[in-house]
Amino acid sequence: MKGLLDDKTIIITGAGSNVGRAAEQLFLAHGARLALVDRDISRVSTTSDAPPDNRLVIAADLTDAAANERVVGQVVAHFGRIDGLCNTFGIDPPMAKGTLDTSEADWNRIIAVNLTAVFLACRAVLPAMRAGGGGSIVNIGSQGSLLTLPGMTAYGVSKAGVLQLTRQIASDHGADGIRANCICPSGLEQPSADRLQILTDEQLARRADAMKRLSPLGRVCTPDDVAKAMLFFVSDLSSFTTAAALPVEGGGTAVIRF
Ligand SMILES: NC(=O)c1ccc[n+]([C@@H]2O[C@H](COP(=O)([O-])OP(=O)(O)OC[C@H]3O[C@@H](n4cnc5c(N)ncnc54)[C@H](O)[C@@H]3O)[C@@H](O)[C@H]2O)c1
Repeated sequence: MKGLLDDKTIIITGAGSNVGRAAEQLFLAHGARLALVDRDISRVSTTSDAPPDNRLVIAADLTDAAANERVVGQVVAHFGRIDGLCNTFGIDPPMAKGTLDTSEADWNRIIAVNLTAVFLACRAVLPAMRAGGGGSIVNIGSQGSLLTLPGMTAYGVSKAGVLQLTRQIASDHGADGIRANCICPSGLEQPSADRLQILTDEQLARRADAMKRLSPLGRVCTPDDVAKAMLFFVSDLSSFTTAAALPVEGGGTAVIRF
């Protein structure tokens, strides 16, 4: 079978995330050459049987503009071009609180990783994509890009910002053949690595139960659900789709629960 990503070079940032790891497996199965970037590469999967030439692992803290430029340089040197960028990194730390309880330092930290670093990663890749005749950028927002998240001001604002950044890039760079789309998942079956550290088993079970009830499909979002949407956007299946926000939330956004 011809893969949907044959001959495409794709960067997955946050490759050690649950979503990044699911995307890695799916994209490799579709013939992609991957650059896997994470601040902590010990989280990146080590079980891949992909040919080493098709899989480049790079350690980088993407809040650093120079690190983003270095990543792009390494990927172009190794693969010769960049067709896709999928930004899956992010933080959702326990300090994510409501407006009154959010310190300036906490606000700055969350915005720096979840929004500014996504901007830096996108900006760094645009010249290489333009030189190659186009490309596809896929950013991971959240249901909080579309709705408010009670008690999570900085995180919600960062994810709304990611959606608007995505639209902005789509409108500024469509003429370069570059598409940009944003996926808005509901809470995943596993919370973010930061939040996982503080939740007890009982809290995790309650979280899963609450999220199940929010979707007409009666189950929780999985990393594979998000990875499949990423495959759609990064491949030519979505050739005339740009500036889109795709909820991957089991229809939960359509329902008001009384
Ligand atoms: N988990 C959820 O319930 C949920 C829900 C909706 C949206 N999301 C979003 O989906 C994406 C993936 O979530 P997840 O739970 O799979 O992630 P995760 O918490 O499992 O992993 C996040 C990854 O990002 C990396 N990272 C963090 N800061 C970085 C930096 N400065 N530079 C480079 N890498 C960095 C970490 O090392 C880690 O590997 C995130 O953008 C998250 O905000 C998650």
